[in-house]
Amino acid sequence: DKRFKILEVTMKRNHYRQDALIEILHKAQEAFGYLEPDVLEYVAHALKLPLSRVYGVATFYHLFSLKPSGKHTCVVCLGTACYVKGSDKILAALQQELGIKSGETTADKQISLLSARCLGACGIAPAVVFDGEVTGKQTAENVLEKIKNWQQ
Ligand code: FES
Repeated sequence: DKRFKILEVTMKRNHYRQDALIEILHKAQEAFGYLEPDVLEYVAHALKLPLSRVYGVATFYHLFSLKPSGKHTCVVCLGTACYVKGSDKILAALQQELGIKSGETTADKQISLLSARCLGACGIAPAVVFDGEVTGKQTAENVLEKIKNWQQ
């Protein structure tokens, strides 16, 4: 599943260490907006941890959420590589269009807007994640177009 490339990069960086679980879940939440069951299973399998343990950690910490707040999730990377390629402008355009700030969900619960620090996709900066799918070389125009489709 190519959505999980972000997780692979993070887990590899942590040498698949079980004690990096929180950091890995944090990265997953940042990229996907919430921790879906598929993600938890994937992490449990890769770290050779019982799924119950992964669920335990995911439900214990308030910063983790197991449910999406909006129907769709859009994450703009504000890491250095993406920032220098204008990702701040992409985020600003989205905030203006949606009338919400990063970290918020539109009143109709259609779209949650989030930002992240490096998604491990610097080679295709600026990176934006739409519903868990990492896309690169984004522009404000492209992103607004995508959002418009979601709003229909
Ligand atoms: Fe955006 Fe690395 S800085 S993917």
